Order: sequence, then C-alpha cells, then structure tokens
Amino acid sequence: VYKAFHQHHIEASSENLRHLLEKKIPPRIMKILVEAGKLAYDMGFSVFIVGGFVRDLLLGVENLDIDLVVEGDGIFYAQRFAEKLGVSLTVHREFGTAILNLGEQFKFHIDIATSRREYYPYPAALPQVEPAPLKEDLFRRDFTVNAMAISLNPPNFGNLIDFFGGKEDIKKRKVKVLYPKSFIDDPTRIFRAVRFEQRYKFSLDENTEKFIRKALEEKVFQRLSGTRIKEELIQILEEDRPERNIRRMHNLGILKMIHPKLSLTSRKEKTLDQLVDAIAAYEVLTGEKTRRWLVRLSVLLEDLDEQEMKNFCKRYSFTREEKRILITCSSKAKEIAEKLKSPKMKPSSIYYLLEPFPSEALILAMAKIKSKRVMKRIHFYLSHLKKITLEINGNDLKKMGYKPSPKFSYILEETKKAKLNGLLKTKEDEIEFVRKNFGKGDT
Ligand code: CTP
Repeated sequence: VYKAFHQHHIEASSENLRHLLEKKIPPRIMKILVEAGKLAYDMGFSVFIVGGFVRDLLLGVENLDIDLVVEGDGIFYAQRFAEKLGVSLTVHREFGTAILNLGEQFKFHIDIATSRREYYPYPAALPQVEPAPLKEDLFRRDFTVNAMAISLNPPNFGNLIDFFGGKEDIKKRKVKVLYPKSFIDDPTRIFRAVRFEQRYKFSLDENTEKFIRKALEEKVFQRLSGTRIKEELIQILEEDRPERNIRRMHNLGILKMIHPKLSLTSRKEKTLDQLVDAIAAYEVLTGEKTRRWLVRLSVLLEDLDEQEMKNFCKRYSFTREEKRILITCSSKAKEIAEKLKSPKMKPSSIYYLLEPFPSEALILAMAKIKSKRVMKRIHFYLSHLKKITLEINGNDLKKMGYKPSPKFSYILEETKKAKLNGLLKTKEDEIEFVRKNFGKGDT
C-alpha cells in the first residue's frame, strides 16, 4: 500500500529542498533527519516532515518544532528511532503520537505521529482517527500552507510534497482552507486563520473568509467547549502586538460570537496600544513576567457588568483567580489612578494603597493614566516599595523579650511602615525602632 503512495509523492513534487534545509538547520539536526529517513526505509515505512515547519522554512522564519509523520506504525517507528539515537521517548498512545526527548542542548523538538485520516463524528467533536496515506493526513489539516510535507526517504530526501497548492499560497500570501466544511469540523481554525493572517501579514482567501462568516452564522462556537475557546483566545492575546488580530476578530464578527458585549472600540484600541509600554515597564521594574493576555482581555471585557463577567468566566472555564483579577481590573483601575492623585502622599500610603491589587490591575492603571505624578508613584512602588521586607520577624521580637501575642503583627506592621518611609536601613535600625516605640519588651 505504502509503496504505491511513494510514487505519488515523487509526482507531487518538482522541487528539492535539501540545500535550503542544510542552510537553515544545524548539522547535528540534519544528521538526525537523514537517520530518520534511513530507519524508515529499513522498516519498510516512509517518513515526512509536515506542517508548520515546512511553512516556516519556505517563509524563511525560524521554527524549532519538527513534526514527523510516518506512513506505517508511527509509535513502533518512534521507539526504534529513540533507541538508535540513545534518547528517551514520551508516548501518547491514545493519539498515536510520540515525542523524542532530545534534551535541552538540542534546542529542537521532534514529534512523531502515524499518518492518519480523521473523522468528525459530529461538528466540532474531537476527531476519531485511523491510519491512512500521507495525502489524507495532509488533507485533514487546516490551511494549504500548513498542509505541505518534505520527504525524508533516501531515494527522494528533501522533496517538497505539495498536493494542495501550499507553495503557491505562500507566494500569494493567502490563508486558504482545504475544504469548505473545515471550520465546521474544527471551529478553532477560525482563530488560527486570524492568527496566521496577522502574524505573517497574509490575507484570507475570499472563499475562506466566506466559510468563516457562514460558520459563525451557524453559531459553531456553541458546540465548542469553553476551554478550547479560552485556549485560542489566550494564544491570540499573547502575540506580540495583538491589536490587529483583535480588530480583525471584531470585523469578522468573531468577538461578538464569543460574547455579545465583547467589542473593540477605538478607545480600547488605544488602551491596548498603551499596554505594550505598561507591560514592558512592569516587567523591567519588577523582574516578573505577567500574564499579558489577562490584562488585554480585561480591556475587551470592559462593557460587561459584574454578573455578566461572572457568567463569561463560567462559560469559558476561567479559574477563580483569573475571574477575581478580571473583575478587579475592570472595577478598580480607574479608582487606583484617582486615589494616587492627591498632592502629598507618604511612601507608606502609596504602598498600602497599591499592595492589595493584582499586578494586572496596576498595569492597566499605568496604561490608562496621563498624570506624570501618578505614573511616578506606581513606578516607585514597583521598583522599590513592593520589594521592601523587614529584616526582623516574630522570633527577633521574642529574643528581645516580647511575649508572643496578637500585638506582634501590629509591631511588625508599624516597623514596616517606618521602613517604607525611609526611616530604617539596617536590622539594628529596626530593633532600635521597636525598642523606642514599644518599650522594653516585658509586655
Ligand atoms: N493543525 C490543524 N488544525 C488545527 C491545529 C493544527 O490542521 N486546529 C495542523 C496544521 O497542519 C499545523 C499542525 O497541525 O501546521 C501543527 O499545529 P500547531 O503546532 O498548533 O501549529 P503550527 O502550524 O506549528 O503553528 P505555530 O507556529 O503557531 O505553533
């Protein structure tokens, strides 16, 4: 069966990419790919690189994720391959896939799967699978540019296999589905279409855009689990500059399908734009990473009241903490900015005002304010006040002769306040401060 298809691959290809591969991939990985082909040959199988890696190779974009598809028993092949390379293997039998554990120093991922066809028992279901020739494995995929393969089999190593005009669509910069029902089978592809279009500055093929609009009219998202929609949203909101993605989702009517009040206005667009600097400032000042998708989402959700927000979080399986942050962001960001305006504020007052808020709410406040004074105060809090901790603790108080009591936390809090206000530098200063203000310690 497989030999017959081998013939097909040769016919489908007029181009050999060996030199391009050699230029783009380090020699040690190249060696692994050659080995991959030889092993398949010895086992009577065929093996191919497929999907995103091939797309990015032709686009000249770096990609470190190699997906291999095997015509034959993919897991059995992966086991032999791992043995040959002397690395371990993680197998997901239920999906017919395996991951080579190449280790950190390789900086490459190799996934291996059995070439298969997919059935969607009903729209938006998780597909059922069975082994099939490569052409069918490629046909079940999302877009033509993601449905190309490169042969690793010794007789035609490096041949580009392009049954569906992917190369042409890369030239024309088009995101195009392989069949009309694609978005009905898998509605998450609607998000992927927007993501690829914006990331690579492609445009949607005319029919593909029609299929998206039709799928949305048929309310395909209703059949999709909340978690799957949430994951797609996160991926888009984590892109470097998601404004254009979001604008596109708004214009295609995707946002309002997620929630009728989810929308993009020019004011929100401006906030999203200002968030780029606010996020960068936060990460530099604190040395912490933030969940930028969460702040960005809170901007899009601004028009929802608290109950609507709670329903939204339930529908899309947000965690309790994420829900709390989204609600705080929408209700408190303005308030934070207002309160920070008063002319005279001690550092400790700034600290206690900002300390209860999640970082996402502070970032949003930073993006929204114009006042230089307020901005300075938030920066001061993040770069300095937030990091202040006392040298002394309850044990030190005991050593000083104080008997443990609820008063401890009061004493420590007052000491911290003094430290925030710049009155204490060293541990000795702190001890001295306690002695002076709370007596000898025989209370
Ligand atoms: N794929 C698909 N439909 C989906 C998800 C994935 O057809 N809903 C196929 C595409 O062929 C894709 C491949 O599976 O190229 C790998 O998927 P993934 O790793 O999610 O995407 P990449 O194309 O590698 O894109 P990214 O750069 O965003 O990881």
